[in-house]
Amino acid sequence: MIQRIRGFRDILPAESGLWQYIERTAAGLFTDFGFKQIRIPLMERTELFARSIGEDTDIVEKEMYTLTDRGGDQITLRPEATASVVRAYLQNKLYATEPVQKVYTIGPMFRRERPQKGRYRQFYQINVEVLGSASALVDAQLIVMLMRLMARLEVKDVSVHLNSLGCPECRPAYRKALLAYIDGRAEVLCSDCRRRQQNNPLRVLDCKVPDCRDAMAQAPAMRDHLCDDCQAHFEACCTMLQRQDVPFEIDNRLVRGLDYYTRTTFEIQTSALGAQSAVAGGGRYDGLMAALGGPALPATGFAIGLDRLVEIVAQSVPGVADRHQRLPDLYVAALGDASQQQAYLWLCQLADEGIWAEMDFEDRSLKSQMKRADRLGAPWTLILGERELAEGRLVLRNMQTKQQQPVSLDTVVPELLGHLKA
Ligand code: HAM
Repeated sequence: MIQRIRGFRDILPAESGLWQYIERTAAGLFTDFGFKQIRIPLMERTELFARSIGEDTDIVEKEMYTLTDRGGDQITLRPEATASVVRAYLQNKLYATEPVQKVYTIGPMFRRERPQKGRYRQFYQINVEVLGSASALVDAQLIVMLMRLMARLEVKDVSVHLNSLGCPECRPAYRKALLAYIDGRAEVLCSDCRRRQQNNPLRVLDCKVPDCRDAMAQAPAMRDHLCDDCQAHFEACCTMLQRQDVPFEIDNRLVRGLDYYTRTTFEIQTSALGAQSAVAGGGRYDGLMAALGGPALPATGFAIGLDRLVEIVAQSVPGVADRHQRLPDLYVAALGDASQQQAYLWLCQLADEGIWAEMDFEDRSLKSQMKRADRLGAPWTLILGERELAEGRLVLRNMQTKQQQPVSLDTVVPELLGHLKA
């Protein structure tokens, strides 16, 4: 038997109802805030991700699924959606008609990370982007929207972590100060951090190795080096969150794993998932459009790890997976060829009315069909044998009370609709 690829998953029928509920809830909420869906390709030119996410990031250095296609092009399975959304915005010149575009997209991403609970090589993201706005209110609104989603999904154990990464005006001086701090401590850092130190010193701040964490405990904070504009921008975002009673924690070490970020960055974290604490992450990327050859327009967004969100919802809301698993409205226990054919016709008519009726096509005994009706959780069973068909009278059984009532053959569908839609 051929097995699936390591780090990839099957989302089975018993789980997919919960996934769909979460996707529906998210899409409904985003629509209420004026977002529209965008659908982007699963593959892009490798260069798009290398230039957006950054050559020195873990994703681009070692996690992308890249191949040379038969025409000789280097293409990559998307490790995230932001780069593609920006590419689509630029390539389709969406800014020409309406500069501010609010979009969301839901789908799989691919990163060849070490698989563990909450970390997969194909995982799903709910991605939201606002392109063309520099306002701190938009950053605040995205965070508020994320927390509203958590509330609608009844998820409680989550907190907002917030930071600012400054801009090309103020970050170079901070980088210098950080490098000077790291230089004095390089010998205690892990080999990854020593390697990152020159190319990507900010990443040293969020290393999880305890010795590195200790060494970086007193490191200078970007927030103390922000220029006036970045400072005012950050404060405006914090003020709006406070006015809307959204609690947040300012986290100097929140630097994120992608290079395009400027100013506001944030994560929604939880303790429910062990080591994988980030349910969602995002921030502003005001320099990305220009870096990709477009006009210098600002943008901001976030992505939710859907696999992780599903896990948290399942943990926090008892019985939620069952609640979003649809059960048949009716089971038709049909015995004999003629009854089966009649039942089959009714099934199709009922489906047109939004009623899910289930039957057995395999010619099983009445007893085993009744067992199946029970197992499927159908609240009603319609019993139809050759005799019932000949007499023109059927039996409708309430599976809970076990009460039975007659149904006339000529008016089965309207009678059933009366009962089931009541
Ligand atoms: P990211 O932090 O790389 O950001 O990913 C966002 C979320 O995706 C994470 O917080 C996590 O929940 C989930 N995630 C990431 N990797 C995995 C994995 N291997 N397995 C399961 N879940 C995972 C981005 O991707 C940015 N594009 C977010 C963004 C949008 N920034 C601005 N706009």
